[in-house]
Amino acid sequence: MTHLIAVLAGDGIGPEVTAAAQQVLEAMNLDLRFEDAPVGGAAYDAAGHPLPPATLALARKADAILFGAVGDPRHDMLMRELRPEQAILGLRKELGLFANLRPARLFEGLEDASALKPDIARAIDLVIVRELTGDVYFGLKSRGTTAEGLREGRDLMRYDEAEVARIARVGFETARRRGGRLCSVDKANVLETSQLWRDVVIEVAADYPDIALTHMYVDNASMQMVRDPGQFDVIVTGNLFGDILSDQASMCAGSIGMLPSAALNGTGKGLYEPIHGSAPDIAGQGRANPCAAILSAAMLLRHSLGMAEPADRIERAVAQAIAGGARTGDLGGALSTQAMTHSVLARIG
Ligand code: IPM
Ligand code: MG
Repeated sequence: MTHLIAVLAGDGIGPEVTAAAQQVLEAMNLDLRFEDAPVGGAAYDAAGHPLPPATLALARKADAILFGAVGDPRHDMLMRELRPEQAILGLRKELGLFANLRPARLFEGLEDASALKPDIARAIDLVIVRELTGDVYFGLKSRGTTAEGLREGRDLMRYDEAEVARIARVGFETARRRGGRLCSVDKANVLETSQLWRDVVIEVAADYPDIALTHMYVDNASMQMVRDPGQFDVIVTGNLFGDILSDQASMCAGSIGMLPSAALNGTGKGLYEPIHGSAPDIAGQGRANPCAAILSAAMLLRHSLGMAEPADRIERAVAQAIAGGARTGDLGGALSTQAMTHSVLARIG
């Protein structure tokens, strides 16, 4: 049975790294069919909207989505509904992709690329389970004026108990497949949303007596992430805190160019993207690190197509390429995107 992969490359370095990931998938000799559609600023330029109906339709129809990046400073002047970022937020919401898995580990050889001391960095092997369709990202937004005539901006932070419970379950299940430890990150000392979060996570924990659950305030978690990231196995947290902590985790693990992600809705359908952005400063130069996109393609095989063995092979090939000294600029080397991709392909055989 042929699997349809929607390729939404997007803006900036998105097309370069997505092409690399597609090249690796094609080299696996699997029964895959690829179909492209514009998204983000590129789609606004081509069709007047960051998420055109045809792109959304392809995303709905496909078995899985390989996504690059969106964001283009030329579009920052547009009204929010038309900005490139709305494409990825719209896809997450429309497809109900509430569970975002963001694994971070230090690849052997990248100790020096990490912002942390090598011995501290070496211990990093964690997954951030980020809720992706709620929180302050999707709450009511408005602008207004205070009684004193000052301009005011408002974004409502909210979760209901069902949203918290379903992401908590993903956190517990992920911990069950790994080291059996789950750290729930919130700001329950200040936020009512977080107090509900914590209450619900504790209730769900009753179904997972085998998992060691801890709770941490997000400010402390951010500090612990640089002090001793090796303490974390699985972190479950809300949309905003997960966004911030995953960027932080990436630099601890060497480079934001190395971290993949999966956005899942529980049906097997998923959207797979590097956690990095469109990097307009290096776009079109062939210098971007394709590893995060390639590792995202591996996650696609594993989570949407049930192809664990080829996924392992891709991940091993990336690890071997890195261990063998292959480095793009972000990792302190000088390889082009293509050369880096080839050193991964060479290890797939
Ligand atoms: C991410 C990105 C997005 C987010 C942006 C591009 C909307 O930073 O996937 O982490 O904030 O979720
Ligand atoms: Mg982010």
